[in-house]
Amino acid sequence: MTDFIAVPARKPARPHFSSGPCAKPPGYTPAQLNTEALGRSHRAKIGKTRLAYCIDLMREVLQLPDTHRIGIVPGSDTGAFEMAMWTMLGARGVTTVAWESFGEGWVTDAAKQLKLDPTVIRADYGQLPDLTQIDFSTDVLFTWNGTTSGVRVPNADFIPDDREGLTFADSTSAVFAYDIDWSKIDVATFSWQKVLGGEGGHGVLILGPRAVERLETYIPAWPLPKVFRLVSKGKLAEGVFKGETINTPSMLAVEDAIFALEWAKGIGGLEGLKARSDANAAALSKIVEERDWLGHLAIDEASRSKTSVCLTVAGADADFIKKFAGLLEKQDAAYDVAGYRDAPAGLRIWCGATVDTQDIEDLGPWLDWAYATVKAG
Ligand SMILES: Cc1ncc(COP(=O)(O)O)c(C=O)c1O
Repeated sequence: MTDFIAVPARKPARPHFSSGPCAKPPGYTPAQLNTEALGRSHRAKIGKTRLAYCIDLMREVLQLPDTHRIGIVPGSDTGAFEMAMWTMLGARGVTTVAWESFGEGWVTDAAKQLKLDPTVIRADYGQLPDLTQIDFSTDVLFTWNGTTSGVRVPNADFIPDDREGLTFADSTSAVFAYDIDWSKIDVATFSWQKVLGGEGGHGVLILGPRAVERLETYIPAWPLPKVFRLVSKGKLAEGVFKGETINTPSMLAVEDAIFALEWAKGIGGLEGLKARSDANAAALSKIVEERDWLGHLAIDEASRSKTSVCLTVAGADADFIKKFAGLLEKQDAAYDVAGYRDAPAGLRIWCGATVDTQDIEDLGPWLDWAYATVKAG
C-alpha cells in the first residue's frame, strides 16, 4: 500500500474532525442565532431568561436528575474543573486517576499547586488504569473520556454508592455521548466546545448534593479568586445555577450553545446524540479494520472512546504525522487530525454527534492517499 495513488474523487462535505473546538452542528450558520439578548445586560430579564433557558435545555438533553444542579461558569472546562478543585479539595485525602494529558494536568494541580500530596493511579496512553485500586474514602478525580488517548471509563460501576469521598469527573468529551449514572457523580464539568460543537469560553459545572454539602461546610485553607467563589455567607450561591453568572458571560456563546442544544433536542436528545456518535465511531472502526497500517491506540474496545478516537499509523513518527495531516488540510479533505502534542504520534479523529457519518466514510480513501503520498516522500 505504498504505491502512488490518485487523489480521491469525493471529499468529506465537512472536513471538520478536530477534537475541540469540534464541528458545528449540521446546518449551522451564525445567522440563525437568536441575537435579541446581545448588546443588553446579562442581568436584564431577556439575558437571564436566555441563560436559564440554556441551563434548562442542558438539563433536559443530559437527562440530569433534579438531585444535581447545573450552572454556567467562566473559563471553559478548565475553569469549571479548577473551580471545583479549589473550592472542595483539601477536606480529606485525594486520589487522582490519570491516563493521558488532561488527567495529568489535574494531578499536577492537586500536587504542585494545591500541595495535597494525592495518591496517583496512572496508566500509559492507550490503557485504562486498574480502577479497583481506587480508595473511595478519598476524593477521587478522573477524566471520563481521555481526549488525548481515546480511552474512557466504560461506565460508572467502579464507583461505590456508599463512598465517603466525592467523585470529580472531567466529562468534557464524554457528556452527550455516553450514558452517565449521575448518582455516582458528585462533580462533573464540561465545555460546549466538544460534543455540542459550541464555543469555548464558558464551562459548565454540575454539582450533586454531596458536593453542595462540602461547599457549605468546608472552607479551604487557601484564598479563592472571585471567579471561583460559589458560596456566600456559608450558603451555595444558588443564582449561579439559575443563570445569574458570577461575572459577565458571552451571550453570543450562550446563544450558540442554545442552537446546538435545540438541534440536539430535534434529533431525539441524548439518544439521538449517542446514536450519531456510535455510528461515527463504528464507521471509523471499519476503516481501521480494513487497513493493516492503521490501529486503535485504545486496545480494549470496552474503554475505547466514541468521541475522540485515537489511531496508530504503522511506522509513523511526529514528522510523518505532521506531513500527513498537513496534506489533508491543504486538500480541504480533513482538518486537525494529528494526535495531541503530548500523545504518541498518531491520528485523532473526532466522532462526536456533530460529525456526519458520511464524512467519516469519505475520509477512508483520503487516509490511504495521505499515507501513500507521505511514504512515497
Ligand atoms: C479531557 C479534557 N479536559 C480539559 C480540557 C480543556 O478544555 P477547555 O479548553 O475547554 O478548558 C480538554 C480539552 O480538550 C479535555 O479534552
